[in-house]
Amino acid sequence: MPPQLKTLLPVLAVFICIFLVARHFLIPDSFGKYGHYRANSMDEIAALPAHHIGKAACMDCHDTEAAKLNSDLHSGLTCEVCHGPGWQHMDDPEKNKLSKPGTREFCGKCHDMNPARRTSVIHQIDIKTHNIDRANCIDCHNPHAVWEMKD
Ligand code: HEC
Ligand code: HEC
Ligand code: HEC
Ligand code: HEC
Repeated sequence: MPPQLKTLLPVLAVFICIFLVARHFLIPDSFGKYGHYRANSMDEIAALPAHHIGKAACMDCHDTEAAKLNSDLHSGLTCEVCHGPGWQHMDDPEKNKLSKPGTREFCGKCHDMNPARRTSVIHQIDIKTHNIDRANCIDCHNPHAVWEMKD
């Protein structure tokens, strides 16, 4: 062994010790229990309030809208995909209003012409030309039962 390496070995040993001590204090307790992450984070995330409360919860108070939606082509959609997360609304509906989006841009998120989408899966129109005599899609189509048309 070259002599200079001999003098460097203790320095290396000191660095390894510092590394091991630092590692011991810096790595959170539950790290690695299930995988390369902190196992406790799962409980912490699960304890956060859910922002999307699901169709069943909306149905408790809005059975008329829910029945209508479920009877028609939009039955596969959740309420919150259009109205947004309902957790605060559910607690205090008068204070926390939800949006009622029926504009061309909003409906166009799913229905505007897009060559990457198959028309056999979702019907598409050109939001810039389809019946532009009316400003919004819901001036004609009922959002909950799309073929129930307004005059
Ligand atoms: C495709 C989007 C879409 C979906 C899905 C949808 N809604 Fe709506 N909803 C709308 C729009 C747009 C309006 C506004 C209609 C209008 O003003 O004519 C509305 C209006 C409403 C209103 C207000 C009615 C009123 O008389 O003011 C309620 C309540 C409602 N929706 C509940 C629901 C519930 C509950 C669900 C799920 C079961 C649901 N919506 C699913 C788009 C949607
Ligand atoms: C605890 C009962 C309750 C639940 C649960 C509930 N709502 Fe409502 N919602 C109401 C009431 C009451 C109103 C009328 C509020 C007003 O007129 O000030 C309302 C109004 C609405 C409106 C009209 C716009 C507004 O905010 O006033 C929409 C849209 C709506 N709800 C959608 C939903 C959706 C979607 C869900 C599920 C995520 C939901 N609601 C869950 C009670 C409820
Ligand atoms: C999250 C995606 C989504 C949004 C947003 C959405 N739709 Fe739909 N819509 C669908 C799906 C899925 C169907 C069922 C498949 C189909 O028929 O194209 C459908 C069906 C329809 C149809 C019937 C097409 C047919 O097959 O005859 C009309 C009309 C329609 N939607 C209008 C609207 C209007 C108006 C809005 C805005 C208020 C809207 N949609 C918002 C997903 C969406
Ligand atoms: C003036 C009333 C009117 C307005 C506004 C309107 N539509 Fe329609 N829509 C119709 C009628 C009528 C049909 C059936 C005849 C046709 O296909 O044009 C239709 C057909 C559709 C279809 C089915 C297309 C197919 O391939 O079968 C979809 C999806 C649709 N509309 C979505 C929308 C969306 C999204 C908006 C807003 C950007 C909108 N419509 C605005 C009256 C309207």
